[in-house]
Amino acid sequence: MSTLAVYPGSFDPLTNGHVDIITRGARMFDRIIVAILVNAEKAPMFSMEERVEIAREVFKSEPKVVVDTFNGLLVDYVERKNAQVIVRGLRAVSDFEFEFQMALMNQRLKPQIETVFMMPAEQYTYISSRLIKEVFALGGRVNGLVPELVEQRLREKGLAKK
Ligand code: PNS
Repeated sequence: MSTLAVYPGSFDPLTNGHVDIITRGARMFDRIIVAILVNAEKAPMFSMEERVEIAREVFKSEPKVVVDTFNGLLVDYVERKNAQVIVRGLRAVSDFEFEFQMALMNQRLKPQIETVFMMPAEQYTYISSRLIKEVFALGGRVNGLVPELVEQRLREKGLAKK
């Protein structure tokens, strides 16, 4: 039986931490769906279309990675896709409490779906989309922390230093 995993999130924007987890997930599972939550934030920096396009471009040569969007309960989406696993990244102890709550709630909703936590490479453990946006907005450099395409898109939005 092949194992299909779903890696859900807002991805606003995709960071190199996300890329690292997706790459690890693609080594571990037969297929991994990067599932971008629709309307996670009222005013996202990147539109849903931009986020999908960026993720598809970054993983265009990785056939095991599929990019999709979802609405509503994550476990319902996972079931619709016939996936067995939810992948979440754990960066630090501070992530644990919320992730633990979500994993147990999802387990209660659909006990047959397993949450697997994966650690990104050490150099990405402090990166978050929120921090990337804040640093950009204030004119700081984030090269090496996000894919080049994300940096390019931020420059186009007039938010990144040349
Ligand atoms: O990138 P994020 O914001 O950390 O991702 C959070 C996400 C999308 C995984 C979470 O908010 C989610 O699963 N939302 C879908 C609605 C849902 O199922 N809520 C109950 C979770 S226990």
